[in-house]
Amino acid sequence: MDERLEQIRSDALRDLEAAGDPAALEKWRIAYLGSKGRLKGAMELIRDVPPEGRPAFGAALNQVKEDLESALASRRERPSAAGDPADAARAAGPMIDVTEPGLLRAEALGRRHIIMRVHDELVEVFARLGFAVAQGPELEDEEHNFVKLNIPADHPAREPSDNFFVDDPSRVSAPRMLRSQTSTVQVRVMETQEPPIRVVAPGRVYRPDTVDATHSFMFHQLEGLHIDRGVSLADLKATLFQFARAYFGPEAEVRLRPSYFPFTEPSAEFDLRIALRPGQPPRWMELGGCGMVDPAVLVACGIDPETWTGYAFGFGIERLAMGKYGIPDIRMLFENDLRFLSQV
Ligand code: DAH
Repeated sequence: MDERLEQIRSDALRDLEAAGDPAALEKWRIAYLGSKGRLKGAMELIRDVPPEGRPAFGAALNQVKEDLESALASRRERPSAAGDPADAARAAGPMIDVTEPGLLRAEALGRRHIIMRVHDELVEVFARLGFAVAQGPELEDEEHNFVKLNIPADHPAREPSDNFFVDDPSRVSAPRMLRSQTSTVQVRVMETQEPPIRVVAPGRVYRPDTVDATHSFMFHQLEGLHIDRGVSLADLKATLFQFARAYFGPEAEVRLRPSYFPFTEPSAEFDLRIALRPGQPPRWMELGGCGMVDPAVLVACGIDPETWTGYAFGFGIERLAMGKYGIPDIRMLFENDLRFLSQV
């Protein structure tokens, strides 16, 4: 090998041994391997080498470069001389250039889906109003989805074409279905708990609707149920009112409109009046159904209607979220388009 290259290598290895800390190692790297270092300088020497010797010179130069790089790498892994072992570990640690500029583009942070955020907010607000959370299965039977909710066999809501029945030859007489409403959880809670009861049941429901801007075959509802001695329609109204104010602010209004549901008597639909954006005039938005739990439902679930009364309500979480965040199309909530998800 060219003796000048030999010289560089032996100087380098000697100096490397002497370099005691990361700063010294970096100084060494710049002196030998840096863009103005001695190896770069040695490249100039090739001009003095006769043409036939140049390939060998080039190869030797590369060899020295590789040797020095690997010597540096193993020197960095080796703790420096005696002293505090922690110092040694630190000295051997990766070299970090604290002057290196940071990432110019912040990495995108993930977060909970808007529906789950609204879900959590609702659970939190109802918890403050004294409601615990109840859950029930999404794979249900007609007993819980219809029968015990006082929905008769010939009711249009029970049409096979309006529900997702599950094909299961072993259960022909008691077919199962994806629940079409969270009112099923009312039944499950009343079957298993003694009053007083005060629960909300948020969850997914399924209906074979044609998908469009306001319909989806899967969406979320939140059901509320409160059973106690002497619970009245006034309590229902007060609860919906308090909920609306707690969630939307002191300007929110609630109104009930007479309606019909098989599982409540009397029944009502309820609307919220909210200003969706600051400065915009408030407007009424239809939200859900409610009423006093029908005594026939209490009896079907083993609760004595002479002692206990209660109210129930249910509404769609997507609908509420779309109203609150001004989302014009329900499909946006399910397409998982990051351009949408990162805005809301
Ligand atoms: N389950 C009804 C629906 O899906 C909503 C509903 C109405 C729930 C009245 C209730 C209620 O608890 O009392 O349309």
